[in-house]
Amino acid sequence: MADATLEASRIAVEFAGLRALDGVSLTLRQGEILGLIGPNGSGKTTLVNVLTGQVRPSSGSVHCAGEPITGLAPPAIARRGIARSFQIVRLFTNLTVRENLEAAAVAQGAGRREAAVRADLLLEEFGLAGYRDERAGALSYGDERRVEIARALAAGPRFLLLDEPAAGLNEAESDALLALLAALPAERGLGLLIIDHDMRLIMRLCHRLHVLASGRTIAEGDVVSVRRAPQVIEAYLGTAHA
Ligand SMILES: Nc1ncnc2c1ncn2[C@@H]1O[C@H](COP(=O)(O)OP(=O)(O)O)[C@@H](O)[C@H]1O
Ligand SMILES: [Mg+2]
Repeated sequence: MADATLEASRIAVEFAGLRALDGVSLTLRQGEILGLIGPNGSGKTTLVNVLTGQVRPSSGSVHCAGEPITGLAPPAIARRGIARSFQIVRLFTNLTVRENLEAAAVAQGAGRREAAVRADLLLEEFGLAGYRDERAGALSYGDERRVEIARALAAGPRFLLLDEPAAGLNEAESDALLALLAALPAERGLGLLIIDHDMRLIMRLCHRLHVLASGRTIAEGDVVSVRRAPQVIEAYLGTAHA
């Protein structure tokens, strides 16, 4: 498993004439935290949608651990060990917190007992044990966000893709989330891709960054060099003025 990667190659996506992605290649390795950043509308969510099968690329390919997964439906991709969260929380609001996690584990082939054990361990780890039997729809926004990540982990993924997991959280909640996320790659050996606008969080959490602007990769590499790259500074200043 040493070279297990999730790899997108030369991805293009078109929406009714709009080129949302144009020749983007991205590699996520197990054990690393990769930050996917860029101005609004630069194609970040679309790229995650391609990696998880929600959007079919018009060209390019996606490989997981060397096997092609391009164009597979989301459940088939999930079975390869790729889990995600959404920019807008999508829990089963009428199920309990625990049932949400169990459902994710069962969907990946765990038996009922194993699913319950996995769910309880994750609820403990995420400080959610007290909400175990609450309806997911009754939680605060910050707690919903944590449940969504715990649920993605209940599937036992090799790769976890988080679309703005800290959006709408206050600073204390965001710091708590950061501590949880920072531990995941070493603890579970998974590759974590995170989209976020909070540069403080991104800079503290990520090992590498991949920057998109207008559907193209404008920089990638270690955090310090990417942050200093003139094209990155320009892309961010440009949108600050817009
Ligand atoms: N389903 C869709 N149909 C049409 N256009 C879309 C769709 N999804 C995204 N887009 C467009 O694609 C571009 C990239 O969007 P998105 O990937 O959501 O950007 P980001 O996540 O970086 O803010 C935007 O111009 C957006 O309006
Ligand atoms: Mg987005």
